[in-house]
Amino acid sequence: MPTIAHVSDLHIGKSAANDEAARALAQALLAARVDEVLVSGDVTHRGRVEELRTFRRLFAPLRDRVALVPGNHDRLGDDAGRWMMAGRVQVRAGEGLHLVRVDSTAPHNRHSLLDGHGELSHGDVAQVEEALAVAAPGALTVVMLHHHLHELPEDGFWERVSTRLGWPNAGELALGEHLLGRLLGRCDLVLHGHRHATSESTLALGSARPLRIFNAGASPELGRVRVLRHGGGRLRAVGWLDCRDWARQALAWEEGAPAAA
Ligand SMILES: [Fe+2]
Ligand SMILES: [Fe+2]
Repeated sequence: MPTIAHVSDLHIGKSAANDEAARALAQALLAARVDEVLVSGDVTHRGRVEELRTFRRLFAPLRDRVALVPGNHDRLGDDAGRWMMAGRVQVRAGEGLHLVRVDSTAPHNRHSLLDGHGELSHGDVAQVEEALAVAAPGALTVVMLHHHLHELPEDGFWERVSTRLGWPNAGELALGEHLLGRLLGRCDLVLHGHRHATSESTLALGSARPLRIFNAGASPELGRVRVLRHGGGRLRAVGWLDCRDWARQALAWEEGAPAAA
């Protein structure tokens, strides 16, 4: 059964140690032979072209398996995010997987890190619905974007300060819950980042088509990547790949029976 590795918030260029952790991560993904590498934004730290080049170099052996969306950090500097996606919503349909990539960044992200919150319009939501409507029957349907759709606890000092001051940068997308409502029954997974701590939740649990929401967290900081195994249009198993030592990379399943690859 095919596997998806969900990577996020690489922040390439943040520090030498961070980039070394990203290199180990790419090597571990290669050694684990994951089928898809979905990167939910903040690929670069300062939006520099040079940082994007470093990412491409580190992930070159995985190039054909990688799909990106931009994050707010990718809009800084040289606006590296503009090479990650054209348009607000794009579909990548593969065997058994229907991926809808959504650009949740906005022009205000160009200004400063304090303007890191995302933006989603009613037009974007309509485009996502159209993109989901053309999914092949039996495909796992995934929406990937950088910013979170529902309220999450603050995971750092500055986020707590921002929330107390009423600033929007730590908050969820204003139309996030509206989009979630439109995804129910039409989509299987939402993959996002932005918040650097991992999280997961499930909507419509127990229904014929529950909606799973995963935040990858900042993958190099964590030194591990969530791996999802799917088949027949359903999520079959969820595990974590330890990437700190790629030569001894270990995939531990925490949910579902891992079927033979
Ligand atoms: Fe980030
Ligand atoms: Fe972010």
